[in-house]
Amino acid sequence: MLALIGIISYFSLEPNYRTMITSRRHFVKTTLGASATLSISSLPLSASDFLIQKIISKAIPSSGEQIPVVGIGTSRRYDVGTSEEERTPLRDVLKQFPKLGGKLVDTASSYGKAEEVVGDLVSEIGNRQDLFFATKVRQQEKADGIAEMERSFSRLKTDKIDLMQIHNLMGFDNVMPVVREWKQSGRIRYVGASTSNQRQYTDFEAMMKKETLDFIQINYSLDDRTAANKILPLAADRGMAVLINLPYGRGRLFDKVGDMTLPEWAADFDIKSWGQFFLKYIVSHPAVTCAIPGTAKPKYLTDNFGAAMGSLPDTAARKKMEQLFDSL
Ligand SMILES: NC(=O)c1ccc[n+]([C@@H]2O[C@H](COP(=O)([O-])OP(=O)(O)OC[C@H]3O[C@@H](n4cnc5c(N)ncnc54)[C@H](OP(=O)(O)O)[C@@H]3O)[C@@H](O)[C@H]2O)c1
Repeated sequence: MLALIGIISYFSLEPNYRTMITSRRHFVKTTLGASATLSISSLPLSASDFLIQKIISKAIPSSGEQIPVVGIGTSRRYDVGTSEEERTPLRDVLKQFPKLGGKLVDTASSYGKAEEVVGDLVSEIGNRQDLFFATKVRQQEKADGIAEMERSFSRLKTDKIDLMQIHNLMGFDNVMPVVREWKQSGRIRYVGASTSNQRQYTDFEAMMKKETLDFIQINYSLDDRTAANKILPLAADRGMAVLINLPYGRGRLFDKVGDMTLPEWAADFDIKSWGQFFLKYIVSHPAVTCAIPGTAKPKYLTDNFGAAMGSLPDTAARKKMEQLFDSL
């Protein structure tokens, strides 16, 4: 019976959502609770092994490939040494993330040891094929850009980088031609550019109007919504996927709400925490593809990735979220 429900829901999913085929055990735990584990063993193996968990995903406009709307950011917290104490929580996060249905990990050559730590841990775990690696290059000169990108391949222990972004527009004209060549040759799958600084928005917008990019990355959160004025609509017009950095304003948003309880209406959108409130506001923007909260603790992973499940706020609810936040 359960298998039947799963198969029916597979064919009735809304177009904007990706189906996520999970193991039988995962389905039982997440959907029915651990107590149901025994009863499912009576299902016919072929059907029950392919039951469905719905994850909210959006398409990359240039390819149609689906990306779950919550990823992981690695700045600062993944810049650690080799001790087990430092690496264990990060290993747990990178191991669990794709098991929950997640994919996109954002890093950068300029985040200290972060790329190396991600590369070491993912190769230890052996789940590179389940992840989407986004990294960044930040060099003024072409030769330095090439050296930095080669270092990223070696630190990330991969022969293919999913997304290479020009970091904060630095050296765009010199380095982007190489990024495009490497996309042509298959070493890089997507090209993009990032910023998190309003002073760069005018140049960023000009670049977006001129260039063909698969992705942009920009800061956008309840306490800084400037990107929604011009850049997000422009990305939609230009067919560019959008990653959102600093979704929590480096933690400022949590400080703002303090120990306040969530409004009752948040439950209408399956929001169970302030983190999910902040992330669902972001990923419900039609131009946004994926938010990348800094996630270095297993408890943050389950909380943050919860925002990729259930329903999303509509326009009226997004307005209410803004009003509530602005009133604080
Ligand atoms: N120009 C660029 O390209 C650019 C610039 C900035 C950032 N980025 C990217 O964007 C990512 C996100 O930015 P960010 O990490 O600086 O800031 P952020 O995601 O806005 O905030 C991270 C902070 O939120 C806390 N946090 C995370 N999940 C939480 C949860 N569920 N509940 C409570 N607190 C939670 C973390 O706590 P802990 O301190 O306890 O871990 C951390 O202090 C970066 O990691 C990076 O990949 C790109």
